[in-house]
Amino acid sequence: MKSSLASEGGTPVRKEFLPFSLPMLGDEEKAEVLKVLDSGWITTGPRAFEFEKKVAAYVGASEAVALSSCTAALHVSLAVLGVGPGDEVITSTLTFCSTANVIIHLGAKPVLVDVRSDTLGMDPVEVEKKMTAKTKAIIPVHYAGHPCRMDDIDSLAASRSVPVVEDAAHALGAEYRGKKIGSLSRLTCFSFYPIKNITTAEGGAITLNDRELADKIRLYSLHGMSKDAWKRYSSRGAWYYEVLYPGFKYNLTDLQAALGLHQMDRLDGFLARREHIASLYDEAFSECEEVSSLHVERDVKHARHLYPILLNLEKLSIDRGRFIDELRAENIGTTVNFVPVHMHPYYRDTFGYGPGDFPVAEDAYERVISIPLYPRMTDEDANDVMEAVKKVASHHRKG
Ligand SMILES: Cc1ncc(COP(=O)(O)O)c(C=O)c1O
Repeated sequence: MKSSLASEGGTPVRKEFLPFSLPMLGDEEKAEVLKVLDSGWITTGPRAFEFEKKVAAYVGASEAVALSSCTAALHVSLAVLGVGPGDEVITSTLTFCSTANVIIHLGAKPVLVDVRSDTLGMDPVEVEKKMTAKTKAIIPVHYAGHPCRMDDIDSLAASRSVPVVEDAAHALGAEYRGKKIGSLSRLTCFSFYPIKNITTAEGGAITLNDRELADKIRLYSLHGMSKDAWKRYSSRGAWYYEVLYPGFKYNLTDLQAALGLHQMDRLDGFLARREHIASLYDEAFSECEEVSSLHVERDVKHARHLYPILLNLEKLSIDRGRFIDELRAENIGTTVNFVPVHMHPYYRDTFGYGPGDFPVAEDAYERVISIPLYPRMTDEDANDVMEAVKKVASHHRKG
């Protein structure tokens, strides 16, 4: 006999709520933070610079600039490329709002494109249709940590000499055709928000292979000042500086970098753990008709930031919202990535988007749920997630 649903008074699959995500911070991070506090230098300085070196070395880029968020990284990237009023920037509609917001901040127009149905990554065929003489940059979004088809996107970009700025918020550790994400494009932006593959509480980075452009990013991200605080206040510094551009305040502090230094050391272990849990899910859901997993292409290494499941709604008597409520009653936390950008009121009303404009993203949005996937989870936690999904699916099977 089936055990009854927690929402109907049955016993939940687990006693304690399993959050959608939790960071994994250890004694090394704690000790490093205390060292920074004791040192008297808490803003951007030696730890941030060391963190930059680790990020650059890991992804195989010559430069990394650590910043306060991936949003900041995307904003500065477009600014140093000279994106401004009258320009268009192409990106995926299935992304976090900040990818599109930063384009608006610079006075340019976000030109949204639909995604591929198998990976939910930006569809190069749709990119080609939207390229015009005004296209000033392309921002592929590596949804869930699965790299987009970069060869196709790069050749489109190259055909019009348009730079590619990757939104790799989900993709630290991912690889495309044997190369790490972060080493491929003009600029790649990462996020170190608490749920990401590593965290600095809040933080981000841009990686690139261009020293001059990296210096420009450093300048733009700190008010446009010719010298950062370390160069002014440390024992070898000098007070005089000049403002060369009306820049932003987007630096990453040494306190944050203290976390990041040790998170980088653990990254490969984190990725292996994520891959292990994802493989358990892949197997479990391959036998569950009500649920589909996303496809993984053969020429990539998936960073496994998210594990989105797609509900096969024709086989279920409930919708996605109700499925999430049932999982919460079973003590499983989830989220939805993402409400497509064009469905948010600002974008819908400003650019006149309507239903059916991006059919693949809209269909995915109706059906998608991101389930817990993080290194701090035990196999038992993962089993609870699988059991809860199967329990809810079987109770609400149609017919
Ligand atoms: C695809 C994508 N891009 C950009 C961001 C922004 O990252 P941050 O919070 O570091 O600004 C996020 C954050 O969740 C994201 O998911």
